[in-house]
Amino acid sequence: MAHAMVVRINGGLRQVPPGVIYALGVGWAGWLFWRGLTGDLGVEPINALERAYGDIAIKLMIATLAVTPLRHWTGLNLLRFRRALGLACFGFVLAHLAVWALLDVQVVSALWDDVVKRPYVTVGMLSFLLLVPLAVTSNDLSVRRMGAASWRGLHRLTYPAAVLAALHYLWIAKGFDISAILHAVVIVALLALRLRGRTRVQMAR
Ligand code: HEM
Repeated sequence: MAHAMVVRINGGLRQVPPGVIYALGVGWAGWLFWRGLTGDLGVEPINALERAYGDIAIKLMIATLAVTPLRHWTGLNLLRFRRALGLACFGFVLAHLAVWALLDVQVVSALWDDVVKRPYVTVGMLSFLLLVPLAVTSNDLSVRRMGAASWRGLHRLTYPAAVLAALHYLWIAKGFDISAILHAVVIVALLALRLRGRTRVQMAR
């Protein structure tokens, strides 16, 4: 990408407050919920809503993972949005989980059954559990308290959380589902790029 163009885009991005991502996320989640309430999500609105929230969650996860390779390979700097993208991803996973627990399964005992007996729910839950400490520590206070090195170490949990989310989607698909496969390929490619970038940095030291 032409350097001048990248500089101009980065300059423009610096004017955009990261809070825009939170506002868009809440608006989008609310709008989908409203569509479900008003019969605009088809004959199975609960399943459609569950899938819609899951779909957005995995796309936000990919966007969060893409920030570093994107800057490395194109110069486009979205670093100041990474925290908001990560927290928006977590927000949609929470909404996804809430639809599953409160509207889909509804019975507490059956929730545990689902987690234990349905492998795709088991790996979805594992992915969620790995995201919890990341969401809880996505603030300046935690970075200061933990120190940058330990904070960065903890946030490497993003990698297994992303792989489990991709596996969750592939498992739901049962068979050839181009969307689930594409999400998985992109996640693996982004992780490979990041790991390669890190190895390069280590070798350069
Ligand atoms: C917290 C634990 C989780 C549970 C209980 C859960 C449960 C579910 C369920 C029941 C479905 C629909 C399956 C169907 O229609 O047959 C689903 C779909 C999906 N979930 Fe999850 N999930 C969890 C975590 C996650 C996480 C962490 C992500 C990604 C970040 C995710 C992404 C998806 C995606 C992409 C779909 C498929 C959407 C589609 O078909 O378009 N889920 N999940």
